[in-house]
Amino acid sequence: MEMVSKIACLVVLCMVVAAPHAEALTCGQVAGDLAACLPYLQGSGPLGSCCGGVRALLGAAKTPADRKTACTCLKSAANAIKGINLSKAAGLPTACGVNIPYKISPSTDCSTVQ
Ligand SMILES: *[C@@H]1O[C@H](CO)[C@@H](O)[C@H](O)[C@H]1NC(C)=O
Repeated sequence: MEMVSKIACLVVLCMVVAAPHAEALTCGQVAGDLAACLPYLQGSGPLGSCCGGVRALLGAAKTPADRKTACTCLKSAANAIKGINLSKAAGLPTACGVNIPYKISPSTDCSTVQ
């Protein structure tokens, strides 16, 4: 009996230790990464450190769930923030030389993002 409870204890310990520590991406993180892009997207400044933020975001969005979150956040940001030049937003991946597999636009269908 004692042996069994020791094993049970070990199993529980392993489950706790091996539990995924992955933190899901949040909109706050997305906004933080892309804050440097706002002057550029609003046509009032240079690209500056924007591409660094874009790359950080791409690096943080590793799972399909994260990419969906990033897409949804970008989409709502494109809707909510006044003065964003959507053609600049759509051209951002090209401007930064990165591959974002969807358009940054209020009409993007994020449910299809993998
Ligand atoms: C958006 O940016 C493009 C490219 O810089 C520019 O040609 C266009 O006039 C801008 N549109 C608005 C609404 O500011």
